[in-house]
Amino acid sequence: MTLSERISPSSIGTRRVLGWQSAPRAAIAALPAHKRLRIGAAWRFRMEQEHLAVGHFARLVYELAATGAEPVVLALLTRAASDEVRHFAICRDYAALFVDEVLPERLEGSARPVPRPHLARREQALLEVVETCCVSETLTGLYFTEMLARTTDPFARSLVESLLEDELHHGRVGWTHLTNACREGWGKPVVEAHLLELFERAVGSVLTLSASRREGDDLSMEALAWLGNDTGARIYREGLRDMLLPGLAAVGLDVGALREAAHTRGWLP
Ligand SMILES: [Fe+2]
Ligand SMILES: [Fe+2]
Repeated sequence: MTLSERISPSSIGTRRVLGWQSAPRAAIAALPAHKRLRIGAAWRFRMEQEHLAVGHFARLVYELAATGAEPVVLALLTRAASDEVRHFAICRDYAALFVDEVLPERLEGSARPVPRPHLARREQALLEVVETCCVSETLTGLYFTEMLARTTDPFARSLVESLLEDELHHGRVGWTHLTNACREGWGKPVVEAHLLELFERAVGSVLTLSASRREGDDLSMEALAWLGNDTGARIYREGLRDMLLPGLAAVGLDVGALREAAHTRGWLP
């Protein structure tokens, strides 16, 4: 029994059950080694990111519970921490099908918050929610949506769907909290003052990294749930233009400086 089966819906909550017995082992074995290992490395990297997200969401719950947030926000963030444990296990088990080594069942570590000692605690927490949920989780949702559109293997499709449906909630909770904070008046000035810094980290650094590792599309790899770096970068650019900038403007934020900077730095399509 895989790790994700051991912590799966039958024992925790009511999440989708993945039929690991129908995992595409033959198709994976038929891939050339360099393609097989590349997909494995991508899912292994995601496994590590999912683990880091567990502690991050748990800390956000703690901060928002301490400084006040709507119950629906606390409920969704608390659930997100648990979702990311499940995602870690799914990514670990899927990566294990591609790599030639045994992957760990436990990792250590959690993401460190950006130190902003000049800000009040609830303002610091809001900026983290915006960066993590509104920006990163929204982009992850778009990324998995595109991955799903290209994945043809039925098991891989159900795996991507299972991650995607959670990531959409993780994005939505951020937009809810940001909308509340702007409506209450205290969110707008602090988010506007930090927007560029926040996007430098959540979007700019990703685009810089992917530009240094150019990678085209590959149908045989995409069939098994994989996207090349060039397509990943395009999703980020289009997501910034079509979802993030309009979404931030819709909650009442002035995004003029961010749009200008995004244009100058080549973040837009
Ligand atoms: Fe996740
Ligand atoms: Fe997530």
